Amino acid sequence: MPPKFFPTRGHLLVCQGQNCQARGSALLYKALWNHLERTSLAYYKKGGSVRLTESGCLGACSYGPALCVYRHKGGGLEEGWYAAADFPLAARVAQAVHEEAELPEDRKYGL
Ligand code: FES
Repeated sequence: MPPKFFPTRGHLLVCQGQNCQARGSALLYKALWNHLERTSLAYYKKGGSVRLTESGCLGACSYGPALCVYRHKGGGLEEGWYAAADFPLAARVAQAVHEEAELPEDRKYGL
């Protein structure tokens, strides 16, 4: 029997590389999970749609904690990359993914 598949609207990754951890990314990851569970945004909750994973270095070591998000949009794949991510910003990114709204612009870099 295959594993249970959970459809999601987007996937957030919080860097747990050394530099980001020195800037609090472990706590950010924990706080974000607590938030996703409490608000039922987590993909495995009824009505939830957001996936969250720890990642290795995302290549923005001097500007961490680094957060990135991937989601399908308009037939393509949208990426959002954030530097100096904190809990309020990460929670807004997760909410935007859940609501299929525009991603927050502040602290976004790259694309
Ligand atoms: S350690 Fe987080 S981006 Fe490199």
